[in-house]
Amino acid sequence: MIVDPSSAANFNEIKIAHIDLNWDVDFTKKQIAGSAVLKVKANQKTRKLVLDGKALNIQGFFEGDKSLDFVVEKNDLYGEKITVQIGDLDAGADKDILVRYSTGESASALQFLDRELTKDKHEPFLFSQCQSIHARSIVPCMDSPSVKQTYNATVSVPSELTCLMSAISEGSSVDGPKTTYKFKQPVPIPAYLLAIVAGRLEKKKISDRCAVWAEPSVVDSAAYEFADTEKMLKTAEDLAGPYVWGRYDLVVLPPSFPFGGMENPCLTFVTPTLLAGDRSLANVIAHEIAHSWTGNLVTNATWEHFWLNEGFTVFLERKIMGRLYGEQQRQFSALVGYEDNLLPCIHDQFDCHHPYTKLITDLKGVDPDDSYSVVPYEKGSAFLMYIEQQIGSNERFEEFLKQYLTKFKYQSITTDDWKAYLEQFFADKKPVLGNIDFDTWLKTAGVPPNKPKYDETLVEACRGLAKKWTDSTDSAVDSITPDEFQKMAAAAQVKVLQCIRSADPLSMHKLEALDRTYSLLASKNCEVQFAWLQIAVKAKWAAVIPSALQFVTNYGRLKYLRPLYRNLFSWKEARPAAVAKFVENMPSMHPISVQVIKRLM
Ligand code: BES
Ligand code: ZN
Repeated sequence: MIVDPSSAANFNEIKIAHIDLNWDVDFTKKQIAGSAVLKVKANQKTRKLVLDGKALNIQGFFEGDKSLDFVVEKNDLYGEKITVQIGDLDAGADKDILVRYSTGESASALQFLDRELTKDKHEPFLFSQCQSIHARSIVPCMDSPSVKQTYNATVSVPSELTCLMSAISEGSSVDGPKTTYKFKQPVPIPAYLLAIVAGRLEKKKISDRCAVWAEPSVVDSAAYEFADTEKMLKTAEDLAGPYVWGRYDLVVLPPSFPFGGMENPCLTFVTPTLLAGDRSLANVIAHEIAHSWTGNLVTNATWEHFWLNEGFTVFLERKIMGRLYGEQQRQFSALVGYEDNLLPCIHDQFDCHHPYTKLITDLKGVDPDDSYSVVPYEKGSAFLMYIEQQIGSNERFEEFLKQYLTKFKYQSITTDDWKAYLEQFFADKKPVLGNIDFDTWLKTAGVPPNKPKYDETLVEACRGLAKKWTDSTDSAVDSITPDEFQKMAAAAQVKVLQCIRSADPLSMHKLEALDRTYSLLASKNCEVQFAWLQIAVKAKWAAVIPSALQFVTNYGRLKYLRPLYRNLFSWKEARPAAVAKFVENMPSMHPISVQVIKRLM
């Protein structure tokens, strides 16, 4: 039996096996209206179906022509618990339940954007973001990752727009001002992978199964940026097994998209901030591709085991990048992930006793959006790397990974399922596994009990350059020339800046020199810009406040918004301007970001 603290659904008794959506997207009302047929199947004798909902306007539940009784109970954190009386259903029996409804004004999964907020400013735009528990705001469902269902959809949108979903497109038909699109997702998916986008979109082919979708003015640069997608997908198949989803397309969203990428099946959503012009942020694509196995095939049963999704995905992402660009590259990213992402998160964002720094979290009474951090990503992938090193053979660990994915594909699992299989697979390595401190790694807050070993070759050069800034006198930094830095790859530049940041705050003189010498805000790579802003904000360099506020206005990624707003809010001189900027930006921000930043403030 699975207990999911983030869902009210009675999925242990009865499950949704398939959903048929029939939607009309209304840009004037900013809502989706229509119906869903839920094909339910009982695991045990039951007479009720309990669903998750959030701010939905429900007209009724029906079985055939018969209207069904239902009650809606409110819960502040999760939305609504909807109990539907469906009549007696025996174990193993199924039924079709129809629900007619429309989405609420504050549907947290949806952002309807006026045309001014798109790149080309031609047409309005809509996109969804259901992970972790926002699917319930677009359809009454069992919004737990432990429930997987197939879905079909028929969606009508204004004819100027193209509609795409996390599914295979099955054509469209124009009917005057409205065009109706059909979709089919034949692989069972958890509700959080339901996704829709509608906008003025153009397509450019990358390979037979990969294409990029974007607004017309950026589709060429997007195709250039993501040209390695097919190569990465093939490498992923080598590591993880056959790709089962048919197509792997990408769609570039407007800048308010709160994430770098989202692994919606058949159609990864990405932020336009990846368009650096030099493919330097392609690891995000490797990451979302990796989710096609880790997450989308083998899924965490509840968000308390989120590390099974993200830790494994980061591990696989780096395996893909390692095969394509060399093992040293993998070692570099893994070390950076540990030193510059994990450790500062544990020490600065939280503290080493904070429960969110555990790999397995307790989400009773906690909104998964609030507990979100790099911990499951970096502590999780470090754990896997550590185990790989203890096993002593990358080849064998890669074989384990492939077998694990094969064994648990199409299922939702907990950490115990993974651990039991690990012990079974490495039965010949009992003493080795016996020496691994699983309990501390998985259940204890703070820094991991062991640090994996990393090849530090590529990091050394970055540390060397950073030292020139941190260890020399104020006047000596004036003679540092830009060439050494400019020649570096963007990821190495970010590492230099991170090394500078982890030293004591720089003097005002050095900050000015750093900014002047490298023109950091002119970089096309937003990670470089962000790393610089973090240094300047940490040092409380007042001159940087306007640029930081501009940055949080231009880029909607929570990865940037969260730390920047947090640091600006807690800095006396910056707080009033930051609060004012947030209030000004709120109407055009994504609902998830608004919620998160409000709670920060
Ligand atoms: N699935 C996540 C995004 C997500 C997680 C959305 C939890 C909502 C709730 C996605 O795969 C992701 O991790 N994106 C990262 C990419 C990075 C780790 C390469 C991001 O957005 O920065
Ligand atoms: Zn991810």
